[in-house]
Formats: sequence, structure tokens, C-alpha cells
Amino acid sequence: MQLVPLGAVRPGAVLGRSLYLDERTLLRDGISLSERLLRRLAELGFEAVYVREPDEPDGEEIPDLLSEETRRQASLAVRTYVNRLKRGYAVDLRPVAAAVNQVLDEVLANGSVVLQLGAIRAIRDEQEYLFHHSVRVCATSVLLGIHSGLDQRELKVLGMGAMLHDVGKVQVPQAVLRKQGALTPEERQTMEQHTTHGFEILRQHRDLDIRAAHVAYQHHERWDGSGYPRRLSGEEIHRFARLTAVADVFDALTSQRPYRPAWPAHEAVAFVHEGAGQAFDADVVRTFLARVAPYPVGTLVQLNTGETALVVRLNEKAPARPVVRVWNGRAQAAELDLFVHLEQRIVGPVTPNGMPEGPASPEGPASRP
Ligand SMILES: [Fe+2]
Repeated sequence: MQLVPLGAVRPGAVLGRSLYLDERTLLRDGISLSERLLRRLAELGFEAVYVREPDEPDGEEIPDLLSEETRRQASLAVRTYVNRLKRGYAVDLRPVAAAVNQVLDEVLANGSVVLQLGAIRAIRDEQEYLFHHSVRVCATSVLLGIHSGLDQRELKVLGMGAMLHDVGKVQVPQAVLRKQGALTPEERQTMEQHTTHGFEILRQHRDLDIRAAHVAYQHHERWDGSGYPRRLSGEEIHRFARLTAVADVFDALTSQRPYRPAWPAHEAVAFVHEGAGQAFDADVVRTFLARVAPYPVGTLVQLNTGETALVVRLNEKAPARPVVRVWNGRAQAAELDLFVHLEQRIVGPVTPNGMPEGPASPEGPASRP
């Protein structure tokens, strides 16, 4: 099974992993992709899909941080909370808390699983993005929290803060949220206020630990003091917000946005790595690098030997050194464990025509809060 950019999928290829549109299953795995279907997927905004050859057997289950059912329920809980808040109705945090508990249980149960690309999903608008982004940031923050040694109670507070970190966006005008081009200085200021709005909203909940409200308040603060809204630095920033900041940036970069395509995982991992000690807490970045796979299962990569290989399994102890299958165009090719064969390493991904991928040219990642 291989993750292939949509434009390079040949008609007749078999879908290797189900596709989702918002909260619905759009296409189940195993379906043959006709030219018409491929066109439709491009119109819907899909950028890449998992495919397998028609004669290739069902691949191994690709490990994931969350089940699709938990994702669906959690995003529904955030959606309900946000929609009621917008209309000025009384809001109840209990369904969100139940969703956070479920996310926490699953991430704890899959604790050995290195973070993997989530389900492939087209997100139709900014609203839908907010719900799904919230769930992924919650799961990633909790994963980082577990491996930073937080206890169960701290993880629940972190999970609530991460799930609701962007809730202040309900008070940002749609015209600013949805704007495609660059923001004016005034619009940027309006956008940045989502942190303060979020804090004000969340601190009104008597049943919510105030540290969760501070995650919303501080998730755009940066270790070197370059963030907002209060330009806090270093350990002045609450630890939970430092964890959520890394999860937030990684998820935003690897998501497709109206103003830029999704970054491949290895580029987003490199971006976080480069920010260690500057934008981000170096300890959090260390934890992140030890848990997040720069080359998810299904990525075609180039080795330092010049060979092309397909990532088939992740090594829990070394996410940058997965088990690969040296590629000769057939599924039966030899497997190579890069955690054992330390003399070989991945130098980068390969584009479908066999050429190594060129340097990244994505728009400035910090361009949107
Ligand atoms: Fe934010």
C-alpha cells in the first residue's frame, strides 16, 4: 500500500484506505478508482490517497492514534459546544469532557504507537477544519503529555485545554477566518485575539480547571518571547500550553489550508525540530521527535544507497528509522529494518516519477494563527 499524490494515481488503482468527507465515509477501501472518481476527489480537495495494486493483498492495518469512531464523536462534541456558544445558548462541557476521556483512553492504549497520519479526509470549510483540528491537537498533546510524564489528572486538564484551544475563534468574524489572501495588520490583530477570547470563555466554566483556560490563552506564546498575546517566554508559559503549541503547529502544517497545500510530515517534523529552543520548548521537541514519524507508512523514500524503498512499518523506538521494503515495483521485495541496519538511512521522500522531492516551497507556516 502506498500513499500517492492524487495527480499520480492511475485509473483502476484500488483504494487502500477509506476516505472521509467531514464526518462521513465517502469511499470505502477496496474500491477501484475510475477516472471520474479521481476527478471528483480532486474537486473535493483530496491531495493524496492510499492505493494498492489490484493483485496486492490487503495490507497490514496502518496504526493510528485514534479510531474513526472516537474522532467522529469527539469532533461532534466540539461542534455542539461551539455552535451553542455562537448562538448564545447555555453550554455544557460534559460531552467534551467525555470525548477527552475517550481520546485519552485510546492514546494510552495505543501508547506504543508512533504518531501516524490521520485518516485521509477532505475538509470543506474553516468550521469543519476547526472541529477536526481540535481533536487531532488534543490527541497529539495528550500523546506528548504521556511521554512527558504527566499523571492522569494532568492529562485530562491538558486534553480539555487542547481540545478547546481555539474556541475563541467563535468571536473572530467569518470574513477574517475565511480570508484567502494575506491578512492586513488589523485583521491579524483581530485573529490573534482568539487566544484572549478563548481564555475569557473557558474561565467562566466553574467545573473547568483554570489551567485548561490558560492553554487557550497561551498556545501561541513562543519560548523566545516572540508569540502572543502577552509575549510570555520560557517557563512563564504554562507547560500544558508549551505541549499544545507543538501539537497545534504540527497539525496545522500537515493540514491542507485554503491558502496553501498540506506539508508532508517530514517537512513539518523538520520545522518543529528547527524551532527547538526558539519557538518551542526544547524538551517538548525532544519528546515530539521521539514519537512522531517523519515518513508515515506508505511513503516512498530514497535511501542513502540510492535505492528506492516503501515504508511498511514504524519502529516504536525510532520513528525516523522504519522498516522499509526495497522497491523493485513488486510487493514481494525484500524488507529492511533501518533500526537494525544503521548504515542505511532515509535521505528523503521520492516523488511518483522517481525523482527525489525538491526543496519545500510552502508559504510561511506561521502566516495564520
Ligand atoms: Fe490558535
